[in-house]
This record gives sequence, structure tokens and C-alpha cells, in this order.
Amino acid sequence: MKLVIKNKEEIAKSVAQIIVDEVKNNPKCVLGLATGSTPLDTYKKVIEISKLDKVSFKEVTTFNLDEYVGLDEKNDQSYRYFMNENLFKHLDFNRLNHHFPLIDNYEKYDDLILQHGGIDIQILGIGSNGHIAFNEPGTSFESLTHITKLASSTIKDNSRFFNSIDDVPKEAITMGLKSIIQARKIILIATGKNKREAVKKLLSGEIDISCPATILNTSLNEVLVFVDEEALG
Ligand code: F6R
Repeated sequence: MKLVIKNKEEIAKSVAQIIVDEVKNNPKCVLGLATGSTPLDTYKKVIEISKLDKVSFKEVTTFNLDEYVGLDEKNDQSYRYFMNENLFKHLDFNRLNHHFPLIDNYEKYDDLILQHGGIDIQILGIGSNGHIAFNEPGTSFESLTHITKLASSTIKDNSRFFNSIDDVPKEAITMGLKSIIQARKIILIATGKNKREAVKKLLSGEIDISCPATILNTSLNEVLVFVDEEALG
């Protein structure tokens, strides 16, 4: 695992450049994408750099990490809506190449990823409780894409995006920890002091299902962890 300490803006620039370089070198690459506030600046930079460098995303395939149960794609809190607004609609992606884990496809999601040759770059945020995607503390390291109940701390954290905490869905569909760890390159971004405790556990090198992100300490593939000073503590 390689640790990179930078400020938020520099993190966004660096990660965006890695993504755009991958697409330039491998136009048919497979990207694993996250939502939430963490990757927003990175996606802005991806759009900016790609437009400047005239990079085409036509043949890129994307697999998102997760989606809430019960929100349709027109709901502005759904992750399909988020991805379209914050990345997809700004570049020349082919809509047919986007994949999200949903009630009707989640059992085949891992096979679908394999059929596409696996994920080249997986972008991850981290929950304040150490979750990655919606793999909450206690999730098996062997888990594949599944339906999960959100932890009460996640519901509280994510209530900032909703009118009220009661509107936050209680369930989601998420790629599993085993699905994620198979990516050829993993980039985890952690910014802000809310992530400090989870980052500390991850960087301690421990491997513990009470902090799901620590599965990254078992990876033999390339893992880059970008943190800002606030998250580092
Ligand atoms: C979202 C996801 C989650 C978030 C995490 C942090 O697709 O997989 O694990 O990365 O909840 O969320 P933010 O970035 O909003 O702090």
C-alpha cells in the first residue's frame, strides 16, 4: 500500500490524472466508481482534463460500487442520478456501458465484472466507521455483491444529503469486499477529520472486519491511499 498525503485539491488533480491516463492508454478500460462527497472534486478534474486533452470515454465501462434500495434513477439522491450529474453527462460515455448493482441484477454483478475482464481502477471513499462501498463493520471479507442494511452511523452521516434522517434509505446494494479487492488498482481517498479514526486503523496495518477498509491491507495488487492532513490527524 502506498500512502500519499496532499491537500484536497491536489488529491483530486492526482487521482483524476491517473484515471485519464488509464483511459488514454487503455480506451476500453473498466472503472469502478464511488459516489458521495469524496470523489466529487476528482470527477470535476476528470471532466476538465479530458475536455482539454480531448480524451474519449466512449469505450470505457463503469461499475458503480453501490445503490440505495428503493430510490429510482430519477430520484436526485440515487447514485445513478449522482453519477450522471457529476460525471457521465459531461463526457462522451456510452450509457450502455454503465453498471449499477440493483435488485434485479445484483446476483450476477460479480460475473458481469469478470466478463468485462475485471476492474482496472477502483475508486473508493471511506465511511467514518471504516466502511468501503456499503460494506459495514462485520461484513465478511469473502462477500460478493449483496443487499445490506446501513449502519446507524452511515444513516446519520448520509442524512446531510436528505431533507430528514427518516428519508435516508435503510438498505442498499453493494459490491462486496471480495468484489472490490480483486481490482487491479485501488485508489482510496479520505479527506476531513470525520475520517480520522478509520484512516488510523487502515494505516496501522491491522486486518479486522470491524473496520472493513482494512481488507486493503491484505491486497497484493496496487493500493494507493490519498489522505489530507485533516484525515491523517
Ligand atoms: C459511495 C460509497 C461510500 C462512501 C463513503 C464516504 O459510493 O461507496 O462508501 O465512499 O460513505 O462517503 P463521503 O464521501 O460522502 O464521505
